[in-house]
Amino acid sequence: MADRPRVFVSRALPGSEPLERLSAVADVDVWEPHDPPPAGELAARAAPCDGMLSMLTESVDGPLLDRCPGLRVVSNLAVGYDNIDIPAATERGVLVTNTPGVLTEATADLAFALLLSAARRLSEGERAVRDGTWGPWHPTWLLGRDISGATLGIVGPGRIGRAVAERGSGFGMRVIYHGRSEVANFPGELMTLDALLATSDFVSVHVPLNAETEGMFDAAVFARMQPHAVFVNTARGGVVDQPALAAALHEGRIGAAALDVTTPEPLPTDDPLLDAPNLMVVPHVGSATERTRERMASLAVDGLLAGLAGERPEHLVNPDALDHPGERRR
Ligand code: DGY
Repeated sequence: MADRPRVFVSRALPGSEPLERLSAVADVDVWEPHDPPPAGELAARAAPCDGMLSMLTESVDGPLLDRCPGLRVVSNLAVGYDNIDIPAATERGVLVTNTPGVLTEATADLAFALLLSAARRLSEGERAVRDGTWGPWHPTWLLGRDISGATLGIVGPGRIGRAVAERGSGFGMRVIYHGRSEVANFPGELMTLDALLATSDFVSVHVPLNAETEGMFDAAVFARMQPHAVFVNTARGGVVDQPALAAALHEGRIGAAALDVTTPEPLPTDDPLLDAPNLMVVPHVGSATERTRERMASLAVDGLLAGLAGERPEHLVNPDALDHPGERRR
């Protein structure tokens, strides 16, 4: 039993299979509270471990990795890995894995739900029912925007962007997209960002958060959108300049925004963003379905087990780490 690797799992996992599979080969320490482990606790619990299964709430940086000299693999239960300092992990020979693919459909569903809700003003309608301002049917009350025939602009034509584009096509939308280059068989037409912003009735964001995309949706970008345009973000809050978004909504430079992600998360109830009109925010639930979260957990365990076994994990984010074996690879 002395050879069993030690693993820290930073939150209780959905479903029983992933943890059972992990516990069969490793000594597992699970952080059970709902809230994330505080930084000191994270370091203390991960320090004696060979592997960690982290959530997007855990900041995994150089100082943390230095406190965990035996850590060989960090498996992130998310497709995004902006919570992990990848160069720091790579130069220390720590493998990082993520969970792409399994959450594509659920996240695209949520993006489209936000798009539909914003277009048809569902939050306003629901509030009216509850606060007693629902008057008799009126031909000009709560008028929204049509989906069919509208133009949907996808920024970031990866897996999730494509799945949202497919939903848009199914609803009779014209789909356009912006990315680094043309994507084979993408159900839409490639455009410059400027042309996409100027043409879209709905703009849906699907770029990862990194140095290039941080704050890319700023005042200049919102100024180039149509005044009725609906902005949907299910990617990361950090790609948006939030004060600029709030200003664009206050000043009517865009029509509405529907967000699954913000900065910070959770968004404090007194955050000025929440005073903006025509704004809907949900609490980062893009992948929050039972089946999807169980698949994410299972994939995260696959990545962890492969890394611990000295194999190349299927969803290895930093293959260069294999060239920095240091003392961590056995
Ligand atoms: C991810 O996987 O990156 C999502 O944001 C969490 O579902």
